[in-house]
Amino acid sequence: MNAMVTFTKQGPIAEALVDNPPVNATSAGVRQGLVDAVRQFEADPELKVLILRCAGRTFIAGADIKEFGKPMVGPNLTEAIAMLDGASKPVIAAVHGTVLGGGFEVALACHYRIADPATRFGFPEVKLGLLPGAGGTQRTPRLAGLATTIELVTTGKQINAKKALESGLIDRIAEGDLAAAAHAYATELAAAGTGPRSAGDLPMPEDDAALFADARKSLARSMRGQTAPLLALEAIRLGYDYPFAEALEREYAMCKEAIAGPQSKALRHVFAAEREVARIPDLPADVTAREVKSVGVIGLGVMGRGIVMAIAAAGIPVVAVGLDDEHVAKAMGAIEKMWGSTVKKGRMSQEQLDRQLALITRSTNVADLGSVDLVIEAVTEDLATKEKVFAELGKATRPGTILASNTSFLNIEKLADASGRAEDVCGMHFFNPANVMRLLENVRAERTDPAVVATIMDFGKRIGKLSVLSGVCDGFIVNRMLSKRSREGFFLVEEGAAPSVVDKAVSGFGFPMGPFALGDLAGLDVQAAARKSRAASASPRELRADFVEQMVAQGNLGQKTGSGWYTYDENRKASHNPATDAMIAAHAEKHGLSLREIGEQETIERLVYAMVNEGAKILSEGVAARPQDIDVAMINGLGFPAYTGGPLFWADQIGLDKVLARIEEFREQHGDAYWTPAPLLVERAKAGQGFYA
Ligand code: CAA
Repeated sequence: MNAMVTFTKQGPIAEALVDNPPVNATSAGVRQGLVDAVRQFEADPELKVLILRCAGRTFIAGADIKEFGKPMVGPNLTEAIAMLDGASKPVIAAVHGTVLGGGFEVALACHYRIADPATRFGFPEVKLGLLPGAGGTQRTPRLAGLATTIELVTTGKQINAKKALESGLIDRIAEGDLAAAAHAYATELAAAGTGPRSAGDLPMPEDDAALFADARKSLARSMRGQTAPLLALEAIRLGYDYPFAEALEREYAMCKEAIAGPQSKALRHVFAAEREVARIPDLPADVTAREVKSVGVIGLGVMGRGIVMAIAAAGIPVVAVGLDDEHVAKAMGAIEKMWGSTVKKGRMSQEQLDRQLALITRSTNVADLGSVDLVIEAVTEDLATKEKVFAELGKATRPGTILASNTSFLNIEKLADASGRAEDVCGMHFFNPANVMRLLENVRAERTDPAVVATIMDFGKRIGKLSVLSGVCDGFIVNRMLSKRSREGFFLVEEGAAPSVVDKAVSGFGFPMGPFALGDLAGLDVQAAARKSRAASASPRELRADFVEQMVAQGNLGQKTGSGWYTYDENRKASHNPATDAMIAAHAEKHGLSLREIGEQETIERLVYAMVNEGAKILSEGVAARPQDIDVAMINGLGFPAYTGGPLFWADQIGLDKVLARIEEFREQHGDAYWTPAPLLVERAKAGQGFYA
């Protein structure tokens, strides 16, 4: 027996225990071990029931992603699964933790299933650009019906043990110890002489064309641009068109094709990159994170409130400090309203809401932050104001208390100076809405103590965020790259592109929205303020493209006033704004600009290559330690489509020589100020390399 699957016997009951840390993926050794276990079980007439169980924190969490794209060693998963399904005596899957992908398929191929109450089940394949390839799309509908299957295989959403039981995907929820409960179940089956039972022998549920049509429509919207969800949906249909065995073969072939495709390659890259960014390469090995038992948030505007919510929702006490009683009451009212509506929608219990609210201490006094371990500052985005707050925090808090600013672009070094405790100062840049958005851009300044870096990276994980570390620069990773896209967007409009056409091209590329719809959503006043703060270093052409200032002067701030680049109805549905056309035409006339047609390809290249070029600068300056940091930050902060792998991975797939050649053309047309290629891009392109080794 191999080291990853041990086979033991106790009377008529055998147990195959999978032990392949960290997540019991079906690596070659596990697949071989499963095949061997079934053979041993079959060969021993004394044995009546086989239990399949896993050691460690979870049942099999899927295929081994690290083996993808490499030659198959030993039996493949479908062979191992066919052995389990075809066993002549009953096999019970005893599952716990996260039963995902190939792991879920293994469980479904067993004849009976018992789960620990905290188990979660899902098919995350679509998130890796794949579809279930080992029977998931065929066994699930036979056990749970169409609606549950469509939801599970096309969205990657997970369900809990209770839902799995209700929908027929498992037979029992264990009370007490899972191993003991599985043994009792096996003893029962053996005593009753119950035989094996295969999901493949069940009929497909009645076909429902409307359900499939609805799913196609909703996936085209919710999983826009992604190929895998629609493929997964079509794979379910194989069950109607072919006998079970043939449907399995075709499903496997579809999965293999998807693995070889560009989206899966990109999404697997993202999976690995998201884990890589948690590791900070230059932190001393012996550094330990500081303990964070309680947190303070100072400044309770939209960002501060969201941060308070994220912290309390993670079960961590938080002191919320506002300007005065009125501000604090307003902020708490807004928090209670948002959580209240979550309760109303049935997504949170009243008890949970009460628990979270009880974790928040209201205050108007900085002195109340004397006992917390971390303070996150979220006051007005103005350097002088923030410097004053950091000076106060330096005095009001204990040495060793981490002082973090949520600024999105200001110089953290200046705040470090103001605090008098530079080693404790860093940035923690949340994205709006801070309680929802997954990205946390942590910022390390020159003098930040390594232990502070380790602490804020850990803390991000504790509150459910994906932390990426950035160095200090204007806008850090995401906003610095975004500012280049925005600038290019204004230039495109000056040259004749309609904002709605630009937005459509950008959404077509896979972003959730284009730059102009985003400007309206964020508030044109916010954008105007950012432009103003950078005006001293802006070029005449950037200053001339003053559309945002023109709209703000008219009181049109975007969605919140019902008018900006677009007009909005009371449900914030956007429509064409004739005033925008008039503004662009008048602007062209005033400055003697000639307008031209700009194609979709040029639009995308101008907007996205501008970001890629800036990314290369960020990388060579060491603001980001690795290309992964940039790709992960842009996907999770700006909605750069994950299925491209992020801007730098995407550029690598195109070929940096081609990207550079286009940038050189744009440089010819628009000048050095905007399109000087980053030296790193030139160097890598000339060497025939990518950003990734
Ligand atoms: N294969 C290989 N390694 C995996 C893995 C997998 N399927 N899933 C997780 N790991 C590794 C991670 O890379 C990570 O390694 P490092 O510590 O070296 O970074 C380690 O396991 C722990 O993972 P997490 O940090 O993600 O731990 P977590 O506790 O936060 O989450 C999890 C655990 C929920 C299982 C999560 O890892 C996860 O969602 N994994 C992916 C599951 C998945 O997508 N399965 C489907 C694979 S495709 C498939 O199964 C279809 C098929 O048959 C062809």
